[in-house]
Amino acid sequence: MNLEKIFEHNEDWINKRLNQDKEYFDKLSSGQNPEVLYIGCSDSRVTAEELLGAEPGEVFVHRNIANMVIGLDLNTTSVLDYAVEHLKVKHIIVCGHYNCGGIKSAMIPKDLGIMNPWLRNIRDVYRLHSEELNAIENEGMRYNRLVELNVQEQCVNAVKNPFVQKAMQNGLQVHGWVFDLFTGKLIDLKLDFDSILKNIKEIYDID
Ligand code: CO
Repeated sequence: MNLEKIFEHNEDWINKRLNQDKEYFDKLSSGQNPEVLYIGCSDSRVTAEELLGAEPGEVFVHRNIANMVIGLDLNTTSVLDYAVEHLKVKHIIVCGHYNCGGIKSAMIPKDLGIMNPWLRNIRDVYRLHSEELNAIENEGMRYNRLVELNVQEQCVNAVKNPFVQKAMQNGLQVHGWVFDLFTGKLIDLKLDFDSILKNIKEIYDID
């Protein structure tokens, strides 16, 4: 990648935006009011804005390895709290993707050093759903299913957050999606939170 090209591209982009709207940067700099928080994987192939067809200002974005929502991770938790409490987003989208290297690493018994505690959270998802996963003979299909179940569990983790719980009572929605790298399709897992959340409410409710 030619880094100088990035600055040329930047100049072209500024001109293009100003040609369309002379006040574009005045508006952009005046503040943000995104309705969506997107939590996705850091994978370079799974972009946030391009995937969603979103413009600057429309999506608050957080990305990490394997789109995890870990309560003790101050980064993710700060993003979640800020998006819900201050930006008052209406939707939280946790988006995983097939062929996710983070998910694959967690399926292989290997010491990955500093990444071990991070990946262990994915192994926990496997343990929670090991009966279903072990019944899938085809390794590729098992791997894809873990991607989906991981999205589900990260949505559940988001819902454990007290701010998210309160906002959900006022209409905030949590969505679990998967991006299929093989076809380009964005898939809504249509997670049935009523049944998934039944014992979450029982156990994690804060009031
Ligand atoms: Co990934």
